[in-house]
Order: sequence, then structure tokens, then C-alpha cells
Amino acid sequence: MADSNSQVWQRGTVHSAEEIAAGIRRIVLRPEKPHAVRPGEHIDVRVLIGGSASIRSYSVVDASPDGSELAISVFLSPTTRGGSAFMHQLMPGDVLEMTQPLQNFPLRVGAPSYVLLAGGIGITAILGMAALLRRLGATYRLVYAARSRKAMAYAGELAALHGEQLEIHLDDEGTSLDARALVDSVPESAELYMCGPIRLMDAVRRSWIERGLALPNLRYETFGNSGWFEAEPFTVRVPRLGVQATVHSDESMLEALERTGLDMMFDCRKGECGLCQVRILDLDGRVDHRDVFYSDRQKEPNTKMCCCVSRAVADEERTSTPATVTIDIS
Ligand code: FES
Repeated sequence: MADSNSQVWQRGTVHSAEEIAAGIRRIVLRPEKPHAVRPGEHIDVRVLIGGSASIRSYSVVDASPDGSELAISVFLSPTTRGGSAFMHQLMPGDVLEMTQPLQNFPLRVGAPSYVLLAGGIGITAILGMAALLRRLGATYRLVYAARSRKAMAYAGELAALHGEQLEIHLDDEGTSLDARALVDSVPESAELYMCGPIRLMDAVRRSWIERGLALPNLRYETFGNSGWFEAEPFTVRVPRLGVQATVHSDESMLEALERTGLDMMFDCRKGECGLCQVRILDLDGRVDHRDVFYSDRQKEPNTKMCCCVSRAVADEERTSTPATVTIDIS
């Protein structure tokens, strides 16, 4: 089990919790051991799902200078695996287990220009970066795409702070983001930082590669829970170890395998690092690859999957029969 950020688990008290946009709750936490927060950082939180503890990551949206108060924002996903429902019932005074701020999405200061792209709740990972770039006087654009205005968190604050640097795209107003047009408009030396649904990030990544832009200049963080299909229960089998489990729609395959007692490798639990990858031996159904670790070419043959986020779904014509994926783990 790897741990690149040396998590220090501690107790955090909920100071306030309020709805700030449709289905989005802002939760201010007071950690026991405060730590200053840098843009792009997140905390891991232990959530309880059906009585079992599970880990979820949330970007720190803003914090007091010494980190004694830090805010996260949680979207109650309709395809929730249970974590966001747990977070949404928290009330002031509740105590949970959390880590210090962890960095997987650092902003590289000094690029000639920046494009910051947020899709929906992905704004939580981007907002602090935008504020820092503004303070530094950097050249940047902040592109924020959402389903509707009422589903946009922090839109007012962002408009006040970033003025013309902020570009808003709304599906229900017919101004949906065109990923290709966005990438075509990016200066060649610019760095693009993005966080949003997998479809949006995938479209940007494809356009980025097609345009031949430098891949290190495209940086992203995932939610780890948005896929191409609705989450549905499926069966996972590990014949070599005599293990079989049902993966419920509100849990990951990694969690289901851990439940059987297997000692699994993982780090990010967000489809980024590839440590949790398993080999697919047989598949009855389709794989919903939700990671950003593999390239499209690696995903296509369905020989491997990142079990922390990717799932199996039934074939279109056999939706009443749950999918089964037979795997081996290294
Ligand atoms: S644990 Fe990092 S991709 Fe699954």
C-alpha cells in the first residue's frame, strides 16, 4: 500500500455546513493539527457507507492562512457511491477523520500563460489556483462550465475577483463548452489545468494530443467517480485466489475486493496513479474505464483496469444480467 503524501490522520470538527448551489454543500472544517494550504491541495476524509469506512478526497476550496479553518465543497452526486450522501448529512459540531492537506495537483508558477478549466464541482480544485495567479499578476483565463447557473458554486465570487478573465459556459443556456475550440485557442506555450467530469477531460485530452501540444503542459485532477455509464452492480471474480464479490453501485471494485480480505495495492483512489490496476482475464459485459491513467490505446483491448474507479456494466442488450469481470491481481 503506497502513500506518497504521508497522510497524517486527525480529527476535524465541522464548523459550518450550508448549501451554496443546487446539490452543493460548503463544509468548513477545523482540523486538530492545522497546516497551511497551497492551491491544488485536497484532504482525504473517512466516510461511512453502510457502516463501513471508506476514503474520499475533496479539494480544499479556501482556508485561513494557518489552515485552522478550511473549506471543502461536496456535490451530492446522483450516481453517488455513498460518500457524498455521508458528507451532506454532516452538521456543525460533528467530528470526522481527515488528513492534513495533500498535494497531487501542484500549480507550476512561472509559465508564460495559463488556462484553468473547471467542469461543475471541479471548480473546487481550480478556484485557489485562479486566486493565486491573479495575485501573482500572471496571464490566465478561467473557464468554468456547468449544467446551469444554479448548479454553479462560487460563480458570484469568481466574477467579482476575475472579471474578464472568467469565461462561463452553461449547457441549459446553449453555451456548452466546445473542448476542441478551447484547445485550439490555447497559446502553444500555455499550461492548462483542469478538473471536471471524465467526458470533458477526455475531450480536452484528445484535442490536446491531436493538436500536438506538449503533454506535460496538460495537468488535471479527477473526481474519481464520473463515468461513461451509470454505476450498476456487477460481479468480480479472482479465480486464482478463490474470491468472488458483488460490487454494489455505491462502492468501488477496490472496496469490494478489500471487503473480501484481499490486501490490495492503491494510492490515489482516483484513477490517476495506476497502482490499483488489475488484469482482466474474462469479461461478460463492458468496462467503464473511469481512470485517466491509461491512454485510449491501452484501454481499448480491455486487458487491464484501474479498480479504484473503473467498473463493469452489462451489455446494452442484456441489461437485466449483471456484468461479470474475471481478474487477477499482481
Ligand atoms: S489507486 Fe491510483 S489509479 Fe487506482
